[in-house]
Amino acid sequence: MTKTHRSAGPPVPSRLRSEIARILVTESQLRQRVKELAKEIERDFSRSDLVIVALLNGTVLFLADLIRAINLPMHIDFFGVSSYRGRTTSEKLIITKEIRLDVKGRDVLLVDDILDSGRTLKRVGAMLRKLKPATIKSCVLLNKPRCRQVPVRADYVGFDIPDLFVVGYGLDYAERYRNLPFVAVLLPECYSRKCQKITQPVPKQ
Ligand code: IMP
Ligand code: MG
Repeated sequence: MTKTHRSAGPPVPSRLRSEIARILVTESQLRQRVKELAKEIERDFSRSDLVIVALLNGTVLFLADLIRAINLPMHIDFFGVSSYRGRTTSEKLIITKEIRLDVKGRDVLLVDDILDSGRTLKRVGAMLRKLKPATIKSCVLLNKPRCRQVPVRADYVGFDIPDLFVVGYGLDYAERYRNLPFVAVLLPECYSRKCQKITQPVPKQ
């Protein structure tokens, strides 16, 4: 079952108040939902030769928690995918690392942090299909159903969220915020500033 998030959320830690509008998914909600997803995957893949293929870098925290909760043998590999403009869109996808495992004839679970326009999952799915796995299923922590620009759906979804730019629990803005233990909404002024400021730390107020 997919969860939908609308609540105002708990208080934002003081050091982040000039950058974060609100916490959208808390640590305990993440912990609970990741365990549920792991149990669904465990049930569905109990007879499989499971290969998890995760997309770098956004899946790091989600993947670490998810795989520890899946009580099955598995192989793990990574695709490096980067949106060249690197900020809030994935229009220009660059593959920075290919998988090395042979997935031919195996059941692949593709894991990504967030399904937004759908372009990333579509492109990586097409690349994987060329490697002739037996099946490909996909799992995303977050889904923005209103943002889809290509018709793609994920088989396992942690949370459906509104059309907001979120960071934390692996998700970044210009490589920042990945270490936050929750998923939070970034204040629009933090990503609409002029380009030269994007790679610099957001100044404290
Ligand atoms: P899509 O290709 O548009 O579906 O977007 C997928 C990729 O875009 C994700 O793997 C993220 O790297 C990035 N992305 C999309 N929405 C967000 C967001 O709200 N926060 C952080 N990254 C995002
Ligand atoms: Mg990203």
